[in-house]
Amino acid sequence: MSRKENKNCLVIALPSGRLLKSCIQLLERAGIDLKGGKEINRKLSFYSCEKDFKFIITKPIDNPTYIECGVADIGIVGEDILLEEKKDVYKLLDLKLGQYNMILAAPENNSQGDFFKNNGHRLKIATKFPHIAGEYFRKKGIYVEIIKLYGSVELAPQVGLADMIVDIVSTGRTLKENKLVIVDEITPLSVQLIVNPISYKTKHDKIIQLLNNIQKSIIGNKGETK
Ligand code: PRP
Repeated sequence: MSRKENKNCLVIALPSGRLLKSCIQLLERAGIDLKGGKEINRKLSFYSCEKDFKFIITKPIDNPTYIECGVADIGIVGEDILLEEKKDVYKLLDLKLGQYNMILAAPENNSQGDFFKNNGHRLKIATKFPHIAGEYFRKKGIYVEIIKLYGSVELAPQVGLADMIVDIVSTGRTLKENKLVIVDEITPLSVQLIVNPISYKTKHDKIIQLLNNIQKSIIGNKGETK
Protein backbone atom coordinates (compact mmCIF):
# COMPACT_ATOMS: atom_id res chain seq x y z
CA MET A 1 0.00 0.00 0.00
CA SER A 2 1.45 3.37 -0.95
CA ARG A 3 1.60 6.09 1.66
CA LYS A 4 1.22 9.73 0.65
CA GLU A 5 4.37 11.51 1.81
CA ASN A 6 3.96 14.89 3.39
CA LYS A 7 6.30 17.39 1.64
CA ASN A 8 7.28 18.83 5.01
CA CYS A 9 8.11 15.40 6.37
CA LEU A 10 11.61 15.38 7.89
CA VAL A 11 13.61 12.24 7.20
CA ILE A 12 15.81 11.27 10.15
CA ALA A 13 18.54 8.63 9.84
CA LEU A 14 19.08 6.74 13.09
CA PRO A 15 22.17 4.59 13.71
CA SER A 16 21.58 0.90 14.38
CA GLY A 17 23.42 -0.75 17.27
CA ARG A 18 24.31 0.50 20.69
CA LEU A 19 23.16 4.12 20.14
CA LEU A 20 19.70 3.31 18.79
CA LYS A 21 17.86 2.97 22.08
CA SER A 22 19.17 6.27 23.47
CA CYS A 23 18.33 8.02 20.15
CA ILE A 24 14.72 6.81 20.39
CA GLN A 25 14.47 7.90 24.02
CA LEU A 26 15.92 11.32 23.14
CA LEU A 27 13.46 11.87 20.27
CA GLU A 28 10.51 10.71 22.37
CA ARG A 29 11.52 13.18 25.10
CA ALA A 30 11.58 15.82 22.35
CA GLY A 31 7.92 15.07 21.61
CA ILE A 32 8.07 12.63 18.66
CA ASP A 33 5.95 9.53 19.16
CA LEU A 34 8.02 6.55 18.02
CA LYS A 35 5.93 3.98 19.88
CA GLY A 36 9.04 3.18 21.90
CA GLY A 37 10.75 1.91 18.74
CA LYS A 38 8.50 -1.16 18.49
CA GLU A 39 8.55 -1.20 14.66
CA ILE A 40 12.33 -1.25 14.47
CA ASN A 41 12.80 -5.01 14.79
CA ARG A 42 11.13 -5.61 11.48
CA LYS A 43 11.44 -2.41 9.46
CA LEU A 44 14.37 -0.27 8.31
CA SER A 45 12.09 2.66 7.51
CA PHE A 46 8.90 3.83 9.19
CA TYR A 47 6.92 6.96 10.11
CA SER A 48 6.21 8.69 13.40
CA CYS A 49 2.61 8.38 14.60
CA GLU A 50 1.78 11.85 13.23
CA LYS A 51 3.55 10.97 9.93
CA ASP A 52 5.49 14.24 10.04
CA PHE A 53 8.76 12.37 10.53
CA LYS A 54 10.11 9.42 8.60
CA PHE A 55 12.90 7.33 10.13
CA ILE A 56 15.46 5.18 8.42
CA ILE A 57 17.83 2.86 10.26
CA THR A 58 21.39 2.88 8.96
CA LYS A 59 24.64 1.26 9.95
CA PRO A 60 26.46 3.97 11.97
CA ILE A 61 29.34 4.23 9.48
CA ASP A 62 26.85 4.81 6.61
CA ASN A 63 24.77 7.41 8.46
CA PRO A 64 26.53 10.57 7.10
CA THR A 65 26.34 9.16 3.53
CA TYR A 66 22.53 9.20 3.67
CA ILE A 67 22.64 12.79 4.94
CA GLU A 68 25.23 14.02 2.44
CA CYS A 69 23.28 12.71 -0.57
CA GLY A 70 20.02 14.13 0.81
CA VAL A 71 17.87 11.00 1.10
CA ALA A 72 17.71 11.87 4.80
CA ASP A 73 17.64 15.41 6.20
CA ILE A 74 18.96 14.76 9.70
CA GLY A 75 21.23 12.12 11.17
CA ILE A 76 22.71 11.04 14.47
CA VAL A 77 26.32 9.97 14.39
CA GLY A 78 29.49 9.70 16.45
CA GLU A 79 32.19 12.26 15.72
CA ASP A 80 34.67 9.43 15.11
CA ILE A 81 32.71 8.57 11.96
CA LEU A 82 32.45 12.23 10.90
CA LEU A 83 36.21 12.67 11.28
CA GLU A 84 36.98 9.51 9.37
CA GLU A 85 34.43 9.88 6.57
CA LYS A 86 34.67 13.67 6.03
CA LYS A 87 31.21 14.08 4.46
CA ASP A 88 29.63 17.37 3.44
CA VAL A 89 27.18 17.74 6.35
CA TYR A 90 26.64 20.36 9.06
CA LYS A 91 27.04 19.53 12.74
CA LEU A 92 24.02 20.96 14.61
CA LEU A 93 24.23 19.84 18.19
CA ASP A 94 26.17 17.71 20.68
CA LEU A 95 23.45 15.33 21.86
CA LYS A 96 25.14 14.64 25.22
CA LEU A 97 24.78 10.91 24.72
CA GLY A 98 28.20 10.29 26.24
CA GLN A 99 31.74 11.49 25.72
CA TYR A 100 34.47 9.22 24.43
CA ASN A 101 37.98 9.57 23.04
CA MET A 102 40.05 8.63 20.03
CA ILE A 103 43.26 7.23 21.46
CA LEU A 104 46.55 5.59 20.59
CA ALA A 105 47.15 2.50 22.75
CA ALA A 106 49.93 -0.05 23.14
CA PRO A 107 50.58 -3.24 25.12
CA GLU A 108 51.14 -2.41 28.79
CA ASN A 109 54.21 -4.65 28.95
CA ASN A 110 56.25 -2.44 26.61
CA SER A 111 59.38 -2.63 28.74
CA GLN A 112 61.21 0.22 27.01
CA GLY A 113 58.45 2.71 27.75
CA ASP A 114 59.21 4.45 24.46
CA PHE A 115 56.20 3.43 22.44
CA PHE A 116 57.38 5.23 19.31
CA LYS A 117 60.74 3.43 19.19
CA ASN A 118 60.56 1.05 16.26
CA ASN A 119 63.76 -0.99 16.60
CA GLY A 120 64.43 -0.80 12.89
CA HIS A 121 61.03 -1.90 11.60
CA ARG A 122 58.16 0.32 10.52
CA LEU A 123 55.55 0.55 13.32
CA LYS A 124 52.31 -1.22 12.49
CA ILE A 125 49.10 0.46 13.60
CA ALA A 126 45.79 -1.44 13.56
CA THR A 127 42.63 0.66 13.36
CA LYS A 128 39.07 1.04 12.13
CA PHE A 129 40.02 4.67 11.38
CA PRO A 130 42.84 4.69 8.78
CA HIS A 131 42.43 8.38 7.85
CA ILE A 132 42.47 9.61 11.45
CA ALA A 133 45.42 7.35 12.30
CA GLY A 134 47.31 8.33 9.12
CA GLU A 135 46.85 12.04 9.79
CA TYR A 136 47.93 11.65 13.42
CA PHE A 137 51.22 9.98 12.50
CA ARG A 138 51.84 12.31 9.52
CA LYS A 139 51.62 15.29 11.88
CA LYS A 140 54.11 13.59 14.18
CA GLY A 141 56.43 12.89 11.24
CA ILE A 142 56.42 9.15 11.97
CA TYR A 143 56.18 6.79 9.02
CA VAL A 144 53.92 3.87 9.96
CA GLU A 145 52.05 1.05 8.29
CA ILE A 146 48.31 1.33 8.83
CA ILE A 147 46.37 -1.94 9.02
CA LYS A 148 42.65 -1.43 8.46
CA LEU A 149 40.41 -3.64 10.59
CA TYR A 150 36.61 -3.69 10.96
CA GLY A 151 36.40 -4.56 14.67
CA SER A 152 38.04 -6.27 17.67
CA VAL A 153 41.03 -3.97 17.11
CA GLU A 154 42.40 -4.65 20.62
CA LEU A 155 43.27 -8.16 19.49
CA ALA A 156 45.85 -6.99 16.96
CA PRO A 157 48.80 -6.24 19.31
CA GLN A 158 48.20 -9.47 21.29
CA VAL A 159 48.56 -11.70 18.27
CA GLY A 160 51.41 -9.78 16.66
CA LEU A 161 49.41 -8.18 13.86
CA ALA A 162 50.28 -4.65 15.01
CA ASP A 163 52.44 -2.75 17.51
CA MET A 164 49.76 -0.28 18.55
CA ILE A 165 46.13 0.60 17.87
CA VAL A 166 44.19 3.77 17.15
CA ASP A 167 40.64 3.29 18.39
CA ILE A 168 37.84 4.81 20.43
CA VAL A 169 37.68 4.34 24.17
CA SER A 170 34.62 4.89 26.30
CA THR A 171 34.69 3.06 29.64
CA GLY A 172 38.26 1.80 29.07
CA ARG A 173 37.18 -1.75 29.86
CA THR A 174 38.16 -3.28 26.51
CA LEU A 175 41.65 -1.79 26.75
CA LYS A 176 42.08 -3.07 30.31
CA GLU A 177 40.81 -6.58 29.52
CA ASN A 178 43.30 -6.78 26.67
CA LYS A 179 46.26 -5.37 28.63
CA LEU A 180 46.61 -2.19 26.62
CA VAL A 181 47.42 1.29 27.93
CA ILE A 182 46.70 4.70 26.45
CA VAL A 183 49.83 6.22 24.93
CA ASP A 184 48.19 9.41 23.65
CA GLU A 185 44.72 10.96 23.55
CA ILE A 186 44.14 12.03 19.95
CA THR A 187 40.83 13.85 20.34
CA PRO A 188 37.69 13.95 22.53
CA LEU A 189 34.49 12.91 20.74
CA SER A 190 30.73 13.09 21.20
CA VAL A 191 27.51 12.06 19.45
CA GLN A 192 26.27 14.74 17.06
CA LEU A 193 23.04 15.72 15.34
CA ILE A 194 23.94 16.37 11.69
CA VAL A 195 22.00 17.91 8.81
CA ASN A 196 22.12 18.05 5.03
CA PRO A 197 23.15 21.63 4.04
CA ILE A 198 20.31 21.99 1.49
CA SER A 199 17.66 20.61 3.87
CA TYR A 200 18.93 23.11 6.43
CA LYS A 201 17.80 25.87 4.06
CA THR A 202 14.67 24.34 2.54
CA LYS A 203 13.27 22.82 5.75
CA HIS A 204 14.79 25.40 8.09
CA ASP A 205 11.77 26.11 10.32
CA LYS A 206 10.98 22.47 10.92
CA ILE A 207 14.63 21.66 11.63
CA ILE A 208 15.01 24.57 14.07
CA GLN A 209 11.81 23.51 15.84
CA LEU A 210 13.16 19.97 16.21
CA LEU A 211 16.53 21.30 17.36
CA ASN A 212 14.88 23.47 20.03
CA ASN A 213 12.78 20.56 21.26
CA ILE A 214 15.82 18.31 21.48
CA GLN A 215 17.82 21.00 23.29
CA LYS A 216 15.00 21.44 25.81
CA SER A 217 14.75 17.68 26.34
CA ILE A 218 18.51 17.45 26.94
CA ILE A 219 18.37 20.23 29.55
CA GLY A 220 15.22 18.70 31.14
CA ASN A 221 16.81 15.27 31.29
CA LYS A 222 19.92 16.65 32.99
CA GLY A 223 17.68 18.22 35.63
CA GLU A 224 15.88 14.93 36.22
CA THR A 225 19.03 12.88 36.62
CA LYS A 226 20.66 15.26 39.12
C1 PRP B 1 34.29 -0.10 20.38
C2 PRP B 1 35.74 0.32 20.27
C3 PRP B 1 36.39 -0.44 21.39
C4 PRP B 1 35.31 -0.46 22.45
C5 PRP B 1 35.59 0.60 23.49
O1 PRP B 1 34.13 -1.33 19.77
O2 PRP B 1 36.27 0.03 19.00
O3 PRP B 1 36.72 -1.75 21.01
O4 PRP B 1 34.07 -0.16 21.80
O5 PRP B 1 34.61 0.60 24.49
P1 PRP B 1 35.01 0.60 26.05
O6 PRP B 1 36.10 1.59 26.27
O7 PRP B 1 33.73 0.99 26.74
O8 PRP B 1 35.44 -0.80 26.39
P2 PRP B 1 32.71 -1.99 19.51
O9 PRP B 1 32.10 -2.42 20.79
O10 PRP B 1 31.90 -1.04 18.71
O11 PRP B 1 33.00 -3.32 18.73
P3 PRP B 1 33.98 -3.68 17.52
O12 PRP B 1 35.31 -3.94 18.15
O13 PRP B 1 33.41 -4.91 16.94
O14 PRP B 1 34.01 -2.54 16.56
